[in-house]
Amino acid sequence: MRASIQQGSEPRHARILGIGAYRPRMGVGNEEIAGLIDSTDEWIRTRSGIRSRRWASADEGVLEMAEAAARQALERSGVPAEQIGCVVLATISHFRQTPAAASVLAHRIGAVNAGSFDVSAACAGFCYGLAVAKDFVRGGSASTVLVVGVERMTDMIDPRDRGTAFLFADGAGAAVVGASAEPGIGPVVWGSDGEQADTITQDRSWLEWRDELDKDPDAPFPVLSMKGQAVFRWASVSMGAVARRTLRTSGLSPEDLDVFIPHQANDRITDALVRSLRLPDSVVVARDIVEQGNTSAASIPLAMDSLLDSGRAKSGDLALLLGFGAGLSFAGQVVTLP
Ligand SMILES: CC(C)(COP(=O)(O)OP(=O)(O)OC[C@H]1O[C@@H](n2cnc3c(N)ncnc32)[C@H](O)[C@@H]1OP(=O)(O)O)[C@@H](O)C(=O)NCCC(=O)NCCS
Repeated sequence: MRASIQQGSEPRHARILGIGAYRPRMGVGNEEIAGLIDSTDEWIRTRSGIRSRRWASADEGVLEMAEAAARQALERSGVPAEQIGCVVLATISHFRQTPAAASVLAHRIGAVNAGSFDVSAACAGFCYGLAVAKDFVRGGSASTVLVVGVERMTDMIDPRDRGTAFLFADGAGAAVVGASAEPGIGPVVWGSDGEQADTITQDRSWLEWRDELDKDPDAPFPVLSMKGQAVFRWASVSMGAVARRTLRTSGLSPEDLDVFIPHQANDRITDALVRSLRLPDSVVVARDIVEQGNTSAASIPLAMDSLLDSGRAKSGDLALLLGFGAGLSFAGQVVTLP
């Protein structure tokens, strides 16, 4: 008789056991940015909701911020680093093609038994990582998974670009995902639309930049370029449908939710999503962008941390997460807060 493959363990449920956050020291108000982009505090506030953001200093690199958030998530979840079976790190601002930031992070925190890899799904990256982590725990590939969303967006923004300079910011958030008696992370609803890839994109590839440098040693570093109105329309309309589908897939209705944590892209996009979902007033809505700006892959865990820290949300609450951004890519799932 043919031998059969042994599975490591029986399928089980997964949940977030603990989260951690790192916010750079330096706060930057709208007035400090407005001069460079011929803007005003009022314009920035009314168009985006942002009042201030955090920008990383030289000693707050992607790995330093990721490590600080990861250590806090481990401490809060009570999971020793050597028990982590996989490190999944979502970022678009780690400027080294190889090795993966996740591998270096695993070494730094002492996750000596962990597989590790990076995820490139921009502002949807944390939700992508969470979906993968859940399935690893359920399927038995890892008993616990560390998911990190980290960005130093200031490294890829032209400080004179009126469409992006005021919007993006830096930071890191992390979650430890492990086994649970009850389902704590719902099915993911995700997708991508490469036809709209040019709506948020690095303006030139590294190879194009290298070739430019041959002719012009001052050729500027590639930066993020965004068609703001197209992104705004896509996020406000299509992401409302994705949010509704995510709830349906988990067998829930808006009334069942305690918390809504969309990617902190723009507070007006959050308003449109709240309307589209017809969320009852009782649902707490994350508005972290007001003080943190848009931190791409870090925005959802940072917002979750703020809500828990302030007491506006509590452990056990049901929260709808919705990540969306460059790709264009998106992912939503309902989670139980740690
Ligand atoms: C970026 C964004 C705030 C710009 O707002 P907008 O209303 O689309 O702005 P527009 O580029 O159409 O410009 C509208 C007007 O504001 C002006 N303007 C543009 N940027 C400005 C700025 N930073 N400060 C002041 N005025 C500005 C334009 O010149 C234009 O003026 P006009 O009407 O006299 O011609 C908005 O498009 C947005 O938030 N998009 C989504 C971006 C996003 O969330 N990205 C992240 C996804 S992960």
